[in-house]
Amino acid sequence: MRILVVGGGGREHAIVKKLKENKEASEIFVLPGNGGIADDAICVDIGASDIEKITEFAIQNKIDYAVVAPDDPLVLGCVDALEAAGIPCFGPCKSAAIIEGSKVFAKNLMKKYGIPTAAYETFSDIKKALEYIENAPVPTVVKADGLALGKGVIIAETREDARAAVISIMKDKKFGESGNEIVIEEFLQGPEVSVLSFTDGKSVVPMVSSMDHKRIGEGDTGLNTGGMGTVAPNPFYTEQVAKECMEKIFLPTIKAMNAEGRTFKGCLYFGLMLTKTGPKVIEYNCRFGDPETQVVLPLLESDLLTIMKAVTDGNLENVDIRFSDRSACCVIMAADGYPVKYEKGKEIFIPSEIKDKVYVAGAKKENGRLLTNGGRVLGVTAVADDLRTAIEHAYKLAETINFDGAYYRRDIGKKALKAIMEK
Ligand code: AMP
Ligand code: GLY
Repeated sequence: MRILVVGGGGREHAIVKKLKENKEASEIFVLPGNGGIADDAICVDIGASDIEKITEFAIQNKIDYAVVAPDDPLVLGCVDALEAAGIPCFGPCKSAAIIEGSKVFAKNLMKKYGIPTAAYETFSDIKKALEYIENAPVPTVVKADGLALGKGVIIAETREDARAAVISIMKDKKFGESGNEIVIEEFLQGPEVSVLSFTDGKSVVPMVSSMDHKRIGEGDTGLNTGGMGTVAPNPFYTEQVAKECMEKIFLPTIKAMNAEGRTFKGCLYFGLMLTKTGPKVIEYNCRFGDPETQVVLPLLESDLLTIMKAVTDGNLENVDIRFSDRSACCVIMAADGYPVKYEKGKEIFIPSEIKDKVYVAGAKKENGRLLTNGGRVLGVTAVADDLRTAIEHAYKLAETINFDGAYYRRDIGKKALKAIMEK
């Protein structure tokens, strides 16, 4: 079977490694992939958002099944284009990917169907937004409507910050056209949980829960990043919380999308905050999370390709989906200076015996050498019987990987461990 994976980060590397466990996956092509993924699949230099070229490639190369992983191509309709060319896909079509593509859409959906989320107002008029700020409680959260590389959210501590946020998004177009419309919402507090789920639009199967570490600095300080590490499972996500989420959030969201004529098939990611008044949705993503995937898939005991095909075929309920009850920790190694300014082109040394635990993101191959080529360079994941051991092992593995200016947080999983101790 010839498989195509669209994307080129650590998440896609994790997907490729898992797909390869199925013997049927004889050839895997990744567009564009990266220097590390190239050890596991055939990478072809076609951009992940170049839908026309992707479709052309898929037809020419007689692809049997495609997995579209990143948000951009999903929101732009990559699955629609591939399906129109007769290629079965994993991933939502454009009309369903809007659940991530437009925050205004997502918020209005939740309001209409009674799905718990932060109270909010939407604005397309800057004057009205600024007027609203004058009486809004602070801190307040200002979000650009569209995709903004995960950076379109500003938490404003004061009214002045909130005003500045509105102006920077709506007037100065800090996030481009994403800021034509904004959401201003209530500031929520509580532990955050990521729950990725498989859904074929009929049933929804949550994967093992996880916890991201979004800030660059230890103790959750400094700028937001694409994610500096993850652990799974997330100890705050108890069985009771899981039950509540299924009843009040997961199933209602699937039903709401069906009712809107936007059936979602693929991986639906629920970004949740566990507040004092119950779990609430912070965001939906129409795809696997990064770096959540790098801890979730190593714990998946069932065959990923079988699950994905069942999602496509609409018979997910007939598939056995099992996760190990062990724990996983992924430490992201970044280039010094990320997420602001950093150098590229540093040689990366990964001991060959740990390569199966390494998910490469920002790297390229040049004359057989692996060189850094992005901010988040790679992630390394350890799985163990308990979280403490998984964390220890992940850091031991990280110590054996070298490149000039490698930076990683030393406290990935610390908050989760503390929560386990206090249980
Ligand atoms: P998002 O891009 O929507 O995931 O937002 C990025 C991060 O901002 C989230 O992971 C939260 O930590 C934070 N955030 C977003 N919305 C809220 C909110 N309403 N209250 C508190 N924090 C929020
Ligand atoms: N880790 C957050 C995301 O994938 O959006």
